[in-house]
Amino acid sequence: MKFSTTFAVLLASVAASFAQQVIVSPTPGQVISVNSAFNLTYVTQRSGGFEESSISIDVVISDINLSFPFPGGLPIHDLAPTGTTADGSSVYSTFVNPVVLDGSAVGNRTISVVEYFNAAGGNPGLDVVFVPVTFVDTPPA
Ligand SMILES: *[C@@H]1O[C@H](CO)[C@@H](O)[C@H](O)[C@H]1NC(C)=O
Ligand SMILES: *[C@@H]1O[C@H](CO)[C@@H](O)[C@H](O)[C@H]1NC(C)=O
Ligand SMILES: *[C@@H]1O[C@H](CO)[C@@H](O)[C@H](O)[C@H]1NC(C)=O
Repeated sequence: MKFSTTFAVLLASVAASFAQQVIVSPTPGQVISVNSAFNLTYVTQRSGGFEESSISIDVVISDINLSFPFPGGLPIHDLAPTGTTADGSSVYSTFVNPVVLDGSAVGNRTISVVEYFNAAGGNPGLDVVFVPVTFVDTPPA
C-alpha cells in the first residue's frame, strides 16, 4: 500500500483540529534547522487504562496544506510509547531527522502526529494532531 494513499485516507477519515494541541515539541511556528534532528514530543489524552489505550504513532512531514506525496515525509513510523505522564497518559518522545527530506524540507511545513489507539470496547481508532513549523537551511543552533 502506498504511503501517500494511506495518509490521504487517514486525513479524510479524521476530524482533525489544530486546536487539540498535545504536541509538546516542536511548538507552533518553531523554526527548525534541516541540518539537525529536532525533539518530537507528543502526549496523548489516553491513560492506557480501562477505556482507551494508545498503541503507536507515525510522524508525517508535509506541505503546510497537507498535500502529498512528499519525499521522506514519514520519518517516524510505528513508534511505541516511550514513557507515561504522572497521570498515566502515554508519552512519545524521539528525535526526528528532517535531512531525509532530500532538501525539500525547507519552508513552511506541517508536522502531523498520527496516533493509533484502542478505543473503548476494543475498536481501533486514530487521531491526527498538527503543528505548523518552518524548516530553514542554516547550521544547527
Ligand atoms: C499545496 O502545496 C503544493 C506543493 O507546494 C502546491 O502544489 C499546491 O498548489 C498547494 N495547494 C494549495 C491549495 O495551496
Ligand atoms: C524532548 O524534550 C523534552 C522536554 O525537554 C524532554 O523531556 C524529552 O526527553 C526530550 N526528548 C528526547 C527524545 O530527548
Ligand atoms: C512562512 O510562514 C511565516 C510565518 O507565518 C510567514 O511570515 C512567511 O511568509 C511564510 N513563508 C512562505 C514562503 O510562505
